[in-house]
Amino acid sequence: MPLIDFNNPVPVGKELEYISQAIQSGHISGDGPFTKKCHELLENGLGVPKVLLTTSCTHALDMSAILLNIQPGDEVIIPDFTFVSTVNAFVLRGAKPVFIDIRGDTLNLDETKLEAAVTSHTKAVVPVHYAGVGCEMDIIMDIAKRHGLAVVEDNAHGLFGKYKGKYLGTFGALAAQSFHETKNFSCGEGGALLINDRELVERAEIIREKGTNRSRFFRGQIDKYTWVDIGSSFLPSDILAAYLYGQLEQREKIQSHRKNLWLTYETGLRAWANSHEVQLPVVPEECEQSYHMFYMLMPKLDLRQKLITYLREMGIYSVFHYLPLHLSDMGRSFGGRDGDCPVTERVSDQLIRLPFHNVLTGSEQEQVMEAIMEFKF
Ligand SMILES: Cc1ncc(COP(=O)(O)O)c(C=O)c1O
Repeated sequence: MPLIDFNNPVPVGKELEYISQAIQSGHISGDGPFTKKCHELLENGLGVPKVLLTTSCTHALDMSAILLNIQPGDEVIIPDFTFVSTVNAFVLRGAKPVFIDIRGDTLNLDETKLEAAVTSHTKAVVPVHYAGVGCEMDIIMDIAKRHGLAVVEDNAHGLFGKYKGKYLGTFGALAAQSFHETKNFSCGEGGALLINDRELVERAEIIREKGTNRSRFFRGQIDKYTWVDIGSSFLPSDILAAYLYGQLEQREKIQSHRKNLWLTYETGLRAWANSHEVQLPVVPEECEQSYHMFYMLMPKLDLRQKLITYLREMGIYSVFHYLPLHLSDMGRSFGGRDGDCPVTERVSDQLIRLPFHNVLTGSEQEQVMEAIMEFKF
């Protein structure tokens, strides 16, 4: 057992009680009472017209690509520094991914490179709010509007974060949330599709229910349900929704704990970072972050690797991510070459994520920071 885990997904409220209630109620398939509670909480809390829980953020992104009718030959613009699901969803529909580099400060899609990447084939842009710090949405939305592109926000990290006072996930036609165990709010594996464009709501319900109009049937709007479109089974069991609802109910407690952790790392490591050429996260003034993670950029790859090993030997688990997508086997098959996205290539070598979770204690955090400050460069 490690001394200090990178992540520790444990119940923080009534999760187990709600799971038991879901099982006793006899409705353990999808769209039961707890799914409805999660939908309402998120719709009211964020001000989104329609929220649909999904089995993962990956599946919410898959649904987005289907909903936007992405076809072979279409191009979709994606930041190079993200998880594979952001791109896979669109490639699955036959689209060509166009990777653009990230900003060196927030590690978000570099909006100054967006317009030059737009061609007559571009159908969508997928900004990822990395670490729950908002992308420059004013500029992105303006470019998208002028070129008729759909915006799908990959908000896997950013639930309850804001850009200029507006919740992340409420800018694009669609947004995808993750409730994977590493996220602020979790049910093990889970996600949600936020639908801001009301015209997409009805078809989203159909795609999520195996291409049938079952949701309308259960609402009594039609007298039989049938196969009307393509789709799959994207809805989670109500047992998972019960766990998630227990977590979402505790959102103030969870977010305030994570905020404290984040600020403690930031203030505790600031002087050390400055004197060792280590970059700490940058949060622009217009962004209220979601306190999803705490990362550092070490000066070089070998130092990052050495630090991870050194911490591991002390029982402290830290991790890195993402590898540049354009240099992966798949990325290269789409034409990616070394040097295409220099910021991503550099950041991918330098980034280390420190232990950060809902039950990390102040004394554990002290141990992490002391160990880091004793690290020999
Ligand atoms: C930016 C981003 N998008 C999408 C995903 C996929 O999330 P899920 O595991 O819920 O499918 C992740 C996973 O961590 C992610 O980091």
